[in-house]
Amino acid sequence: MNLLKVYITRPLPSAAVERLAARCEVRMRPEDAPLDAAQLAESCREIEGLLATGVRVSEDVIAQAPRLRVVANVGVGYDNIDVAACTRRRIPVTNTPDVLTETTADLAFALLMAAPRRLVECDRYVREGQWQHPKWELLWGADIHGKTLGVYGLGRIGKAVARRARGFSMRVLYHDIVSAAPALEQELGAQFVDRETLLREADFLTLHVPLTPETHHLIGVRELAMLKPTAFLINAARGSCVDEAALVEALESKRLAGAGLDVFEHEPHVHPALLSMPNVVLAPHVGSATAQTRLAMAILAAENLLAALEGRRPPNLVNPEIYA
Ligand code: DGY
Repeated sequence: MNLLKVYITRPLPSAAVERLAARCEVRMRPEDAPLDAAQLAESCREIEGLLATGVRVSEDVIAQAPRLRVVANVGVGYDNIDVAACTRRRIPVTNTPDVLTETTADLAFALLMAAPRRLVECDRYVREGQWQHPKWELLWGADIHGKTLGVYGLGRIGKAVARRARGFSMRVLYHDIVSAAPALEQELGAQFVDRETLLREADFLTLHVPLTPETHHLIGVRELAMLKPTAFLINAARGSCVDEAALVEALESKRLAGAGLDVFEHEPHVHPALLSMPNVVLAPHVGSATAQTRLAMAILAAENLLAALEGRRPPNLVNPEIYA
């Protein structure tokens, strides 16, 4: 029997791989290393299923994969995939929502706490042996409790961050394209405001929007100018939602107190100015990076892929129009 061929772009947990291997012929890239477009296209030439993680699946790659029947992304964001090109070929594209919501919210909140309380500076201070005697004015930070959290995008992760804020007695404002149901607002203790109010009143502005043409540079010069000079920007969504050069400018000119960033506009390249700013906490896009969550993501992506190859509608389809 000829098994359908699946390609996995980097090593994934065996529990996910075994699921696929029980029903497909699986090839998995053994190195956890970058894969360029030509290499990816070459690996996709003969396959029916692509389990994509850490790669850009362009129209060109798709065009060179005539047998491709599904692209299963390991991640909730799928801006790395040319969904329109897949849709034109009626190729289902899937993602991995829900399983990473709480973990990503934890990381966003960790950044939200680390930046104002200067945790990275504190750590360095102790490790470098600078802590020689008590000092009154040592590494003073900014309070978190009782402050105003501005949630930009009240999707799954935005809601999970808002829930955490309740435990810190924060006032929670949010903005999104539509307001949430009153019952949800009540549960979260969150109040819908317009964009400008969100920017002007937030002590912490946290972004939880997908990257789309509409959210590219959602936070730019104009928006940064509306933030309080004492505010912190938290971004665990996508780097390109923020105009990074404008952010650097705002931080350098002290028009913004600090930032906690898990994502970058040209990652893994980070704007060099950010690297030397003590008021900015940096992380290498690890929002969903816990063993438990990464395993759940890999398994969910495998299930999505199998569903599509078996002619079922995948549970986490992002281009439902192909079934219309
Ligand atoms: C996601 O799931 O979108 C994470 O950011 C990993 O890419």
